[in-house]
Amino acid sequence: MRQGKFITFEGGEGAGKSTQATRLSEALRTAGLTVLQTREPGGSEGAELLRELLVHGDSARWDGPTEALLHYAARRDHLVKTIWPALAEGTWVVCDRFADSTMAYQGYGHGIPIDELLPLHGFAVGNFKPDVTLVLDLPAEEGLARAGRRNLGGTRYESMDLGFHERLREGFLKIASAEPRRCAIVDSTQPADDVARAVTAAVAERLNVSL
Ligand code: TMP
Repeated sequence: MRQGKFITFEGGEGAGKSTQATRLSEALRTAGLTVLQTREPGGSEGAELLRELLVHGDSARWDGPTEALLHYAARRDHLVKTIWPALAEGTWVVCDRFADSTMAYQGYGHGIPIDELLPLHGFAVGNFKPDVTLVLDLPAEEGLARAGRRNLGGTRYESMDLGFHERLREGFLKIASAEPRRCAIVDSTQPADDVARAVTAAVAERLNVSL
């Protein structure tokens, strides 16, 4: 049984998700909540091993379906070992990326039909969903430039073409518009302090907490 709340951050490369996840976690702790901050792919021992296989190497290392399977294997392990036990104890979980990333990257980005990803999602995740999802939005080119400045050498995903990153941005926006109660779109071209204010406002309003 879920006691804590599950909050996810989504968006393309360089959108500032990890900075904002840290800031929100701090705000929730200040409000007296117990918070676990985690990430995907990763967040458990097995999922961190799978992350290494997913984020390094040549862009053509895995085809789209193989990538989707690896992300869902990592997600299942993360849920079973980390997320579900924490929520059951009443801990709030703030996660940098979750299943919307697979729909956006492998679905919209690599072109796997969403209908083909849904059975995989059901098998690994069931009906479990985030309580709130913050979609940090900015133009793909700007995000890639920011990400390039941050980690010299880049990751496998950053080396994919601009069209891939533009498609996944549109994918996130479509997902968010289809589920406006769960998802808030936040303009990530704003200064980080303004993004943080928009994030806390969206969470406070949706989960009825004062932050
Ligand atoms: P990160 O850079 O946000 O830590 O995420 C690692 C990369 O993995 C990022 O480029 C997005 C990608 N990714 C997917 O392609 N599908 C997924 O389901 C997840 C969780 C991440």
